[in-house]
Amino acid sequence: MLEIARAEEEKRKQGIEYYQGDVSETDLTQFGKFDLATGCFLLHYSSSREMLENMLDNINSLLKSRGRFVGININPELTPNWQNYQHRYIFPKREEGARLGIELFSSEGIKFAEFTAFYWGRKTYEEAFKKAGFVCSWIPLEVSQEGKEQCGEHYFDAYLANPSCLILELKKIKIKKLD
Ligand SMILES: C[S@@+](CC[C@H](N)C(=O)[O-])C[C@H]1O[C@@H](n2cnc3c(N)ncnc32)[C@H](O)[C@@H]1O
Repeated sequence: MLEIARAEEEKRKQGIEYYQGDVSETDLTQFGKFDLATGCFLLHYSSSREMLENMLDNINSLLKSRGRFVGININPELTPNWQNYQHRYIFPKREEGARLGIELFSSEGIKFAEFTAFYWGRKTYEEAFKKAGFVCSWIPLEVSQEGKEQCGEHYFDAYLANPSCLILELKKIKIKKLD
C-alpha cells in the first residue's frame, strides 16, 4: 500500500510523505508540529485504555498549540449487534473493552471483509481525551444534497436515527491537564 502511495507521489508531486507505524507506540514529534491531524476509524482499535491514552498523547504531541484532531469513530451509543447498510457490528453488550467484530457485505449480501475493533463507552473516551489535553465534540453525520439526490430523501433516516459512527473533533487546550 505504501509503495503504491509513494509511487503515486512520484508521478504527481503533492508534497505528501508516507510513514507507517503504530500511533500508540511511535514518537510522532519527529515529524514536526501540525495544525490538524486526522484519524478515520482509528481510536476504536485501542485494545486497552492505556493504548487509547498513548494514542491520544502521541496525537497531542503532533499538534501545535490549539491544533485539532478530526476523525470518525464508532458511536459510543452503538446498539449491540447493529446491522444495516451492508455493515454488521457484532458485540453482545456495551462492556468496556469488549471485542467488536465488524463485517462488511456486498450489495448481493456476500461478506467480503471482517476485522476486530473494541467497544469503549463515552465516559472512557471522554476521560482519555481530557487526560491527554483535549476538549471533545461528537458531531452527528449529515447526508449531503448529492447523497439525497442519489439515494432518496429518506434513505439514510434509519442510519441517522441510530448511527454506527460519529465525527469526533478534539481541540488541543493550551495547558495540558494531567488529571
Ligand atoms: C477500517 S481501516 C480505516 C482506514 C482509513 N482511515 C479509512 O478511513 O478508510 C482502520 C485503519 O486503522 C489502522 N490502525 C489500527 N490500529 C492502529 C494503530 N495502533 N496505529 C496506526 N494505525 C492503526 C489500520 O491499519 C487500518 O488501516
